[in-house]
Amino acid sequence: MSIIYSEKDRTLTLHTANTTYQMQIGGIGHLKHLYYGRRVDSACMDGLYPPVNYGFSPDYYDFRLERGISPDVLPQEYTGCNTGDFRLATIEVKAESGAYGADFLYESHEIREGKYAVAGMPSAFARGDEAQTLSVILRDPVTGLKLELLYGVYERQDVITRAARLTNEGGERLTLQRVMTLCLDMPAGHWDLLHFHGRHEMERQMERMPLTSGIRTLSTRRGASSHVHNPFVILAAPEATETSGDCFAVMQVYSGSHRTDMEVDSRGMTRVTAGINDELFAWQLAPGETFHTPEAILAFTHEGIGSLSRRYHRFILGNIIRSQYAFMQRPVLINNWEATYFDFNSEKIVGIARQAAALGMDMMVLDDGWFGGRVKDDNAGLGDWVVNEQKLGGTLNDLIDRVHALGLRFGLWIEPEMVNEDSDLYRAHPDWAYTLPGRKPAMGRNQLVLDLSRAEVVDYLTESLTRLLREHPIDYIKWDMNRNISDVYSHGCAPERQGEILHRYMLGLYTLLERITTAFPDVLFEGCAGGGGRFDAGMMAYFPQIWCSDDTDAVERLTIQHGTSFGYPISTVGAHVSACPNHQTGRTVPLWTRAIVAMNGTFGYELDPSKLTDAERDEIREQIACFKRHRDLIAGGDYYRLNDPQHNDFGAWQYAASDGSEALLGFVQPRVRTNAAPICLRLCGLDGQATYRVDDFRVSCHKDTVWNRRVNDMTGATFTGAQLMYAGLALPRLLGDCPALLLHFVRV
Ligand code: GLA
Repeated sequence: MSIIYSEKDRTLTLHTANTTYQMQIGGIGHLKHLYYGRRVDSACMDGLYPPVNYGFSPDYYDFRLERGISPDVLPQEYTGCNTGDFRLATIEVKAESGAYGADFLYESHEIREGKYAVAGMPSAFARGDEAQTLSVILRDPVTGLKLELLYGVYERQDVITRAARLTNEGGERLTLQRVMTLCLDMPAGHWDLLHFHGRHEMERQMERMPLTSGIRTLSTRRGASSHVHNPFVILAAPEATETSGDCFAVMQVYSGSHRTDMEVDSRGMTRVTAGINDELFAWQLAPGETFHTPEAILAFTHEGIGSLSRRYHRFILGNIIRSQYAFMQRPVLINNWEATYFDFNSEKIVGIARQAAALGMDMMVLDDGWFGGRVKDDNAGLGDWVVNEQKLGGTLNDLIDRVHALGLRFGLWIEPEMVNEDSDLYRAHPDWAYTLPGRKPAMGRNQLVLDLSRAEVVDYLTESLTRLLREHPIDYIKWDMNRNISDVYSHGCAPERQGEILHRYMLGLYTLLERITTAFPDVLFEGCAGGGGRFDAGMMAYFPQIWCSDDTDAVERLTIQHGTSFGYPISTVGAHVSACPNHQTGRTVPLWTRAIVAMNGTFGYELDPSKLTDAERDEIREQIACFKRHRDLIAGGDYYRLNDPQHNDFGAWQYAASDGSEALLGFVQPRVRTNAAPICLRLCGLDGQATYRVDDFRVSCHKDTVWNRRVNDMTGATFTGAQLMYAGLALPRLLGDCPALLLHFVRV
C-alpha cells in the first residue's frame, strides 16, 4: 500500500520506493503538512512541530487560551485566505459581500486505485496498477467552498503528483483571485534554489542561489510557460551536488502564465507555492461550478541533483508523453528554415531532400512559408491553413509524393494559434484576435494571438488542421507559437469573466491539441515557440519533442541544453546541426562539434546541403551513422551531467545503459588553454567490476595532427569501470576552435 491512513494519529502517509510524504488532520480539522523526504516507515512526524507561542502569529480561535497553535506557524497542505496565515497563500477568494476569506476543514478522504485526471488539462497517467490516488475533501463552512486535494502516488517512479479542485457548494457567487496548485512547506533548514531563466535564443539558463529571508517569485504572464522562467524549480540542500544530498523539485504540468513563489519566513521556514499566475486572473465560480488547477509533479531524493533529473526524465517519458513516439526512434530530419528561410519552392525543397536522402537522413521538414499569402516574409498569411500552390509551383501532395519517393518522410510547419492582419481569417473575423477595446494592440512579429477561449475559434482550427492532415500524407508536424499574449481581452466574453481569458486560452489550446493528436496518432508532433518558449510538461503530453531553442550555435546550446536537462529527458530536446558562420552568433565551430552537441538531443540538420564540400558530406554521413548507432542509449540511457558548462572552459555529459553494458561520453571545449593540466572526468553509472573498451572515438579537430601535435586516438583502450568512475579518465589534449570528443565505452 502506497497510501496509509492511521486512525490513531489521524495521519495520511504516502510512500514511494524511497520517499515518504505525511500530513495530519489537526485538532480542529485543518490539514497539516508534516513531512516530505527520505522514506520513513511506521512513524508519526507531528513531533517536528511542537506548539510554540510566537508573538504576532495568531492562534486558531479554538486554541486562543492554550496559544501556540497558529495557522501562521504550522506547515499546511493548502492555505486558507485571510484567516491568520501571513505567509504565501494558495488561495484568494472573495464572496459577494466583498469579504475575502476561506478556512478549510477536513471532511473526508478516499484512497483509490489508479491515477486521477485533471479535467480539460494534461496530467500524468498511469499504466496498470502503477499509481494510487488520495483525495482529501475539505470545506470552508462559511462560503460552502469545497476543496479537493488530489495526490497521485507513483511508488516505483518515486514521484508524487498534486492538483486541487474547488467546487462552489454554497449559495452565492465566489470570485477566485488566486488558486495555486499546491503549498509545500519544506523541512527546517537552509535551501538553495535552482531555477531556469532566460530569453529568446537563450532559454533555461540554470542559476543556483541560496534562498534568504523574504519572497522570491519566478513567474511569467506571457500566456506561455515562456523563454523567461521555466515552470520547474529545484530546492537543494546547500551541500547537495550532482551525486549526493537532499533535493526536492516542483514541476508544473502547465504551459500558460505560471508562478512559483518561495518564501523564507521570519522563523527561517521555507514555503513553496506554485500554480497559475494570478496577475490578470479572476475566476467567477457560480454555485455548482468547479475550478480545476493544473497538476504539479513533485520528487525528492537524498542522492543528489543528477538522480532527481533522471527521475523526471523517466517520469516524463513513461507517464506524461502520450504519443506512441515516447520510446520510439525518431527520424533524423533536415529542416529548410535556416537553409532557405522564405525563399523556396517545391524544386528547391526536393533538391534539399534528395541530398539529405543521399546523406542518410530520414525526413524532410518544410518550415514556414507554404500557406495562404505567406510568400516572402512573416507579415501575412497566419490563420489561412491552405496550401499556396502558386508559391510551391504545384500541389502539396505532389511535393510530398516526390519526397516520399526519395525514401524520406515528410514534415510540415504550422502556427495555428496566430493570425496576421493580412489574412483572410482576420478580414472575416477581426474579433477572433485578442485586442483591447479602443487601443491599437502591441504587435509581436506583426501578428496577433487568436482567442482560443472561444469555442468557435478552437472549432475552426480543429477543422482546418484536420483537413490539412486528412488531405495530405504528412508524417510530422512542427507546431509553432511565435509571440506572447498581450492585450488580453476576449470580444466574445462577458465583462465579469475577462479575468478568466488567459487560462481559458490554455484550456482551448489543450482541447485543440487533444483533438488533433488523438485523431492523428501516427503523426510525430514537435512543439516550438520561437524555439524553447513553451518547453514544459504540459506540452510534452502532446509533443514528444520540442525545438529547444532558435539558437543553433553549438557553444550557446551547451548551456541551453545543460539547463534543459535538469527537468526534461534528452529525447524531448529538439537539436540540429546548422551552417557556420552560425546564423545567430556568427561563430564558426567544427562540424563534428556541432554534431556532438546536436546528438545530445533529437539530432537533425538545418542547413543547405548544396553548399557543403565533399569532405563535409562525408563527415555528415559518418555523423548520421554514428548517431544511429548510439541513439537508443542517448534516448533511453541514464543521463549524467559531468560538469557545469556555464562556469567552466568545457561542457561534458554522459549516458549509461541502466545495466552498465555501455556508456557514451560527450565533451566540448569552447575555451582551449595552453599548458593546462589534462582534463580528467569521472564517469558515472558503470559496473565497477567490469572492464570497458573504447569502441567509438570521435574527435572534432584533425585526428592525426593539430599544428604538429598528435591527438591521442583512444580507440581500443581499456579501463575498469571502477577506474573510470573513481580515478577518472584523462582526456586527450585538444587544440583549435571549440574541439569536441565523443567516446563510446562497451563492457567487454
Ligand atoms: C520560429 C521557429 C523557427 C522557425 C520560424 C519560422 O522562430 O522557432 O524554428 O520555424 O519560427 O517562422
